[in-house]
Amino acid sequence: MTTSDPRAPHDRNPLREGMPADRTAPPCALVLFGASGDLTKRKLVPAAYNLALSRLLSQNSAVIGVARRPLPEFVPQMKEATAKFSRRKPLDEAVWNDLARRTSYVQGNFDDPATYVSLKAELERVDAAIGTGGSRVFYLAVGPEQMPGIVHGLCDAGLISPPSAERGGPFQRVVIEKPFGTDLPTARALNRDLLTRLHESQIYRIDHYLGKETVQNVMVLRFGNTIFEPLWSRQHVERVEITVAEDLGVEGRGKFYEGTGITRDIVQNHALQVLTMVAMEPPIAWDANAVRDEKVKVLRALRPIRGKDVLEQTVRGQYGAGSIKGDQVPAYRAEPDVAPASDTETFMAMRMAIDNFRWGGVPFLLRSGKRLRRRLAEVVLHFRPLPHRLFDVDGHAAGTPNQLVVRIQPDEGISLRFGAKVPGGGVAIRDVAMDFLFGAAFGSSSPEAYERLLLDAMRGDATLFTRDDEVEAQWAFIDPILEGWRSLPAPLAGYEAGSWGPKEADALLPEGARWREP
Ligand code: BG6
Repeated sequence: MTTSDPRAPHDRNPLREGMPADRTAPPCALVLFGASGDLTKRKLVPAAYNLALSRLLSQNSAVIGVARRPLPEFVPQMKEATAKFSRRKPLDEAVWNDLARRTSYVQGNFDDPATYVSLKAELERVDAAIGTGGSRVFYLAVGPEQMPGIVHGLCDAGLISPPSAERGGPFQRVVIEKPFGTDLPTARALNRDLLTRLHESQIYRIDHYLGKETVQNVMVLRFGNTIFEPLWSRQHVERVEITVAEDLGVEGRGKFYEGTGITRDIVQNHALQVLTMVAMEPPIAWDANAVRDEKVKVLRALRPIRGKDVLEQTVRGQYGAGSIKGDQVPAYRAEPDVAPASDTETFMAMRMAIDNFRWGGVPFLLRSGKRLRRRLAEVVLHFRPLPHRLFDVDGHAAGTPNQLVVRIQPDEGISLRFGAKVPGGGVAIRDVAMDFLFGAAFGSSSPEAYERLLLDAMRGDATLFTRDDEVEAQWAFIDPILEGWRSLPAPLAGYEAGSWGPKEADALLPEGARWREP
C-alpha cells in the first residue's frame, strides 16, 4: 500500500483486498427533502459522512436539507446525530468539518412554489462555490402523498431536466423512499404521476434491504460460485424459509403504524425483495435492467393468495405485553397513538408458491414481526431429506436434512449445516455448522445499506433500486391478501412480546417441520 492510497486509513487493511477503491461519487448536490425527520438524522446524513470518511464522496459535493420547520441549528444537530448514529465512532472532526462546510438548509413548505425558488438559489450558490456542476440527487424522505407535489415543484422551477444523452453531463435524479404507495392503485397512480415529469432512468425507488451486503451476497453466492447453484432448485431444496424479525416495537410511530401494519411496512417491500434475490434466475448481466427483469419474473410467478386461501396460507398477529432481553414491554395496543382495540397486524407469516420450473412444489415460508425474541433477518434453504437413512442411530440427528442459512443481520454471514460423525465408536451423527462471517473475513464493519445506495444513486447505478413494474408486481401480490383479511375477516392471533410469534404460524409449515429457532 503506498502513501498515495486513496482509501481512508480504516480501509487500509489486507483483509479488504479486492474491495473497490474507485467507486467515488461524481460531484453533485444531495438534496434531502424531509430533513427534519428521523431518516435524515439516523441514516442519511451519517451515510453521507461515512462516504466522506471512506473518501467516496467528491470534494465537489454538497448536502442541502429541505423541510417545513425553521432549523437554524441544522448543521450542529446533524453533527450530534452523526456522532451518535454513525457506524464508525468517534466522529472524525476533520472529515465532519469538511462536510459541514458543504452542508446547508432551506426552509419551506413543499407545496409552496417559493420553496423551490429558494432551493434554486441555494443550488446555484453551491454550484458556483463548491463546484457541484448542476448535478443533483433529490432524496424524498417524505410520505407518498407529498412526492408528486415535490417532483412537480422541482420540475416547474427548472431544477430537473430530461436525462442528458451525453455521458458525464450534469444529471438530476430523484430517490423515492418507501412506502411507494399504500396499495396497487396508489402505487400505479404515483408511478404514472412521476413518469409525467421524469424519465424512469431518473427515478430511484429505494428499498434499503437491497443495500445490505448479505442480500447482495445472495447473488454472489449463487452466481459467483459453481457449487451452490446446481443445488438451488426443487430437485434439492425442500422448502425455503425467510425471517425478518425485529425485537423493537413501533418506537413512537404508532400513528404511522396503525394505518400500515407489518405487511405494508416490511413484507411488501423488504421481505419480497429478499425472496426475489433468492428465487430469481441468473440475470444475463449485472446491470440494472437485466437484474430487475429477473426479479419481476419471480414476483409474477408468485401464485396469488386470495379468497379463502388467505385464511389457509397466511397468519396475522399482534403482540401482547411481554419481556425482551429482560425488560418488560407493553402490548401493541398500549403503545402511544394506537387504538385500544386496534386490529393492525404486527406479525405476519405466509406460505407462498412460485409457479415456475425451478421452484414448482417448493413452499416459500415467510415470517416477519415486531417485538419478536430478537432482531434477525435470514434465509434458510432446507434441503431434501436423505433418500435412504444409512446411519439412523437412535436418539441422534441422523438424517437431519442439510440447511444453508444466509444471515442478513446481525452477524452477517453464511452457515452450512450438515451431519458429522461424533468421534468415538459407532456411527453417531451430530448436526454441525460451517460458518462464514463477513466481519471476520473482511476485517471491518460492512457499509450501511444507505451508504451503498446513496453512492449508487450518485453514480447512476439503479441495479439495487426497484423499477416501476417491480413495485407494482409486489403490490399486486400483497393487495389480495390485505383484501382477504378485510373481507373474510381474518382472525388476529395474539403473541407474547419476546416470543417467536403466534403458534398459529406453525400450521403453515409442512407436516413435521418447524420454524428455525436461531
Ligand atoms: C423500515 C421500517 O423500512 O425498516 C421499520 O419502516 C423497520 O419499521 C426497518 O424497523 C427495519 O430496517 P432494518 O434495516 O433495521 O432491518
